[in-house]
Amino acid sequence: MNKALSLDEIIIMSDTELHKELIDPFGRRVEYVRLSVTDKCNMRCFYCIPKGFTDFEEPENWLTFDEVERLMSIFADLGVRRVRLTGGEPLVRKNLPELAARLSAIPGIEDLSLSTNASLLSEHATALKDAGISRINVSLDSLRHERFKEITGGKLQTVLDGLQAAKSAGLSPVKINVVAMKGLNDDEFESIVDYCLENDFTLRFIETMPMGSTGKDATDYYYDLQQLKKRLKKRFSLIPGMMPGGGPARYFQVEGTELRIGFITPISQHFCETCNRVRVSVNGTLYLCLGQNDKVELRPLLRDGSTDEQIRKAIVAALALKPMRHEFKDEPGQIVRIMSQTGG
Ligand code: GTP
Ligand code: 5AD
Ligand code: SF4
Repeated sequence: MNKALSLDEIIIMSDTELHKELIDPFGRRVEYVRLSVTDKCNMRCFYCIPKGFTDFEEPENWLTFDEVERLMSIFADLGVRRVRLTGGEPLVRKNLPELAARLSAIPGIEDLSLSTNASLLSEHATALKDAGISRINVSLDSLRHERFKEITGGKLQTVLDGLQAAKSAGLSPVKINVVAMKGLNDDEFESIVDYCLENDFTLRFIETMPMGSTGKDATDYYYDLQQLKKRLKKRFSLIPGMMPGGGPARYFQVEGTELRIGFITPISQHFCETCNRVRVSVNGTLYLCLGQNDKVELRPLLRDGSTDEQIRKAIVAALALKPMRHEFKDEPGQIVRIMSQTGG
């Protein structure tokens, strides 16, 4: 882990003309913003939104498209090159393609992507592609209709149809996200590999992170992805590989094919030393880490007449709060906000 900068060093950094870059106290450069456009979702994956949860953000507190565009332009000035639209389910927010078009037109934003459950993609895939979304990541924890319903509350067929629409629209790559869960979907991993091979999708397995009280203890169904790597190596020849993207997955290629399988291992092998991102929630809260509570409210600045330069300084100063790492393993009950409030 890099050494933390002293307070003096941070002040010097945030005072110089500069702020051309966002560098945190551990020397990590932030160039990726995960932007949540809604905390709502048309599904209910049990590890993300607890049953009966109704405490969603009030519409008057949602950042408007004008506010989001302004904020992302300031981030772009500070060296952010990648923006990922997240939720909840981002497509639940009305006119998302319009926002995407505005963000992709910001000078400096080179990579605009979307994390979605795909259930509304049949309707929107082409408009999103036209608006400048180049690639998408899609949650898909099971290929069995009944089981999919149990885990997500949604309809598998809408997701499969959405994925075909994404393909036809030319969104590429399509990355499939599978949250690996012991006793819940761990008998399906090989068949999901086959599905991705057939469809030219990239596949990533994710270890469940304990976020908020979801009614189930994440440690009960935790599946260690180091075990899965060994398991898949029995059937597939996996060679270390690469994949465009800014996130934490470590990739392997299935030899003799184009398929890449990524492992996202926040619990068994955390990746915080290379963290390059921050999160903005629908109400304009800047979260410095997915697994910590450190945050700065940006909405008041966007609404009180602050200048771009003042907001820029606030963001630079906020970076000093970015923690070294999450504590999902040692303090699993620490994060009370649910996943859909930060967008993963
Ligand atoms: P690309 O690599 O750019 O395609 O994106 P990504 O894989 O980061 O995005 P996606 O929204 O698909 O996230 C996949 C999983 O990685 C989700 O479970 C996220 O919560 C998780 N993830 C992304 N960034 C972080 C992070 O900084 N820390 C932790 N612990 N998990 C993260
Ligand atoms: N742990 C790990 N991944 C999660 N996701 C949602 N909640 C969790 C959690 N508690 C994943 C979704 C989606 C991605 C953006 O985050 O499956 O694919
Ligand atoms: Fe919705 Fe995604 Fe959360 Fe599932 S993981 S409830 S699809 S936001």
